[in-house]
Amino acid sequence: MSVSYMTHPLIRHKITLLRKESTSTNEFRKLVEEIAMLMGYEALSDLETQEINIKTPLEESKQPVISGKKLAVVPILRAGLGMVNGILALVPSARVGHIGLYRDPVTHEPHEYYCKLPEPIDQRQIVVVDPMLATGGSAVAAVDYIKEHGGQKIKFMSIIAAPKGVETLMKAHPDIQLYVGALDRELDDNAYIRPGLGDAGDRIFGTK
Ligand code: URA
Repeated sequence: MSVSYMTHPLIRHKITLLRKESTSTNEFRKLVEEIAMLMGYEALSDLETQEINIKTPLEESKQPVISGKKLAVVPILRAGLGMVNGILALVPSARVGHIGLYRDPVTHEPHEYYCKLPEPIDQRQIVVVDPMLATGGSAVAAVDYIKEHGGQKIKFMSIIAAPKGVETLMKAHPDIQLYVGALDRELDDNAYIRPGLGDAGDRIFGTK
């Protein structure tokens, strides 16, 4: 597996705004979407293209268009939902699957409560999105599930990751490509990323 850490100043700037406690729900939501779009731009830089014949107002010409596997965006519910529109802004025709996992508050183990993927999933380039890669438990469970259903070409995008999450996902799924907006210091005793941004789902949906 390859891990790419984002270095673009715009991504770094927007992640700083995202972290601030004073950032409102409205701003937070917009920032998550913008960061997902900027990260998606980088993550999709290896999309295949093919030449097609077109006619400009002046002449016939061969020009590139996106080809190869169609895209599926798969948010891990619920915080991953905040990143979907950012990717769809780049690839409006992408299909959207959903994986619902919740973290047991005591054991921090992921439990599945809803899953629906576009079929056939083996034909698609899959981009799994979850803003926070903390313990890696949900990420591993989501990729396990996608692979069990035939998914093969998988990218995973997280805005903020803890070293433990990166390591756990890398060990379990060495074949996928991971894109991380910022790598933070550590997890605390409640499995929150430090310095982090708090609970991404609560901040996106204004539930706290
Ligand atoms: N999920 C979050 O929303 N925040 C964290 O810090 C860790 C997991």
